Amino acid sequence: MHAAFDGDSIVGGAGAFPFELTIPGRQLRCGGVTVVGVLPTHRRRGVLTSMMRAQLEDIRDRGEPLAALWASEEAIYRRYGYGMAALGAELTLARGYHALRPPANPEVSVRLVSLDDAKELVPPIYDRTRLRTPGMYARSPEWWETRILDDPPDRREEGAAKNVAIVDLDGVPSAYALYRVVSKWEGAANVGHVRVIEAMGDDGAELELWRYLLGLDWVGNFRANHLPIGHPLLHALVYPRRALLRLYDTLFLRLVDVGTALAARSYASEEPLVLELDDEFLPENSGRWRIADGVAERTDDDADLALDVTEAGSLYLGAFGASELVRAGLVHELREGAAARADRLFAVPRKPWCPEIF
Ligand SMILES: CC(C)(COP(=O)(O)OP(=O)(O)OC[C@H]1O[C@@H](n2cnc3c(N)ncnc32)[C@H](O)[C@@H]1OP(=O)(O)O)[C@@H](O)C(=O)NCCC(=O)NCCS
Repeated sequence: MHAAFDGDSIVGGAGAFPFELTIPGRQLRCGGVTVVGVLPTHRRRGVLTSMMRAQLEDIRDRGEPLAALWASEEAIYRRYGYGMAALGAELTLARGYHALRPPANPEVSVRLVSLDDAKELVPPIYDRTRLRTPGMYARSPEWWETRILDDPPDRREEGAAKNVAIVDLDGVPSAYALYRVVSKWEGAANVGHVRVIEAMGDDGAELELWRYLLGLDWVGNFRANHLPIGHPLLHALVYPRRALLRLYDTLFLRLVDVGTALAARSYASEEPLVLELDDEFLPENSGRWRIADGVAERTDDDADLALDVTEAGSLYLGAFGASELVRAGLVHELREGAAARADRLFAVPRKPWCPEIF
């Protein structure tokens, strides 16, 4: 935690968790920025800016080449070099439209377990998903216990308890869902909903998990937040149009040590690319960077693309292509075909996903 002082009084604070974040090809240390606030009596005087500077310097000195956050207001953090790095989807599906096109897998069974038993069963499934998904981070046992697998009554949506369903595939726990059934009746009709808090699993088990969830009775609809882009449900549902999907920004990412961060991720092509990078907030990152054969280093070569470090944060996990950012007027092509080359270089097999606000 950092605190900002006015005399002896604390007037602002900012925290950061030490994360292991999955990036394309591996895990990398990352500052997980959280609980940022300035007292209403001291706002718009630069307190946040000075805390962000102190915090990023600390993150860099701890050897974390990246910083990440969820923004309570999306307009705040780009000025500090955080780029929109992953999208999420909110799903609402009316009951009755849950039929799936692929036939049910007879090898699969579903069971309900207690939150206590979930402590053994759920983290390994999360970890398998995490290790192949850019944007996810490792959870400590304390994180699991106090944030995920507890259910204090004051945090329940309309009093509905947290349930845990496990999908076993060939006898192996392979997918899990944390969810609540919020019951409500109007006259004789069910108008409540199932709130899916978190659901994920191995290929082959994940869809069966959703088959189970969307088949639950006594509700009017199914709701889930922070689903990944490219969710298999979109293809598997017989009525995808009935799945109301709203996209929104989730994870913001900041390249704190640009050289280390660029060199750490894997690339999908071997074509070289030279970036002319501008970083006003941490000027030591500014300059020309050449990415080639999995190495990123400073160069005097002519640049292919010019961009701010904020946009480098948007490219890094593979959520967006350079061509999209060129069309948005935020990345500038200095050599014809450079954006398409960057698209190929930064491409990822699985879009980044961050399933949890931290
Ligand atoms: C958001 C918050 C931390 C900003 O703190 P602050 O000390 O007033 O910010 P600063 O004075 O350092 O402002 C720096 C810049 O950000 C801008 N800014 C600050 N808050 C902003 C907001 N909510 N939306 C858009 N821009 C904002 C300022 O206008 C200023 O811009 P400038 O440099 O172009 O003049 C503070 O308003 C707050 O605590 N809000 C409620 C809690 C919250 O939203 N926290 C963020 C959690 S993710």
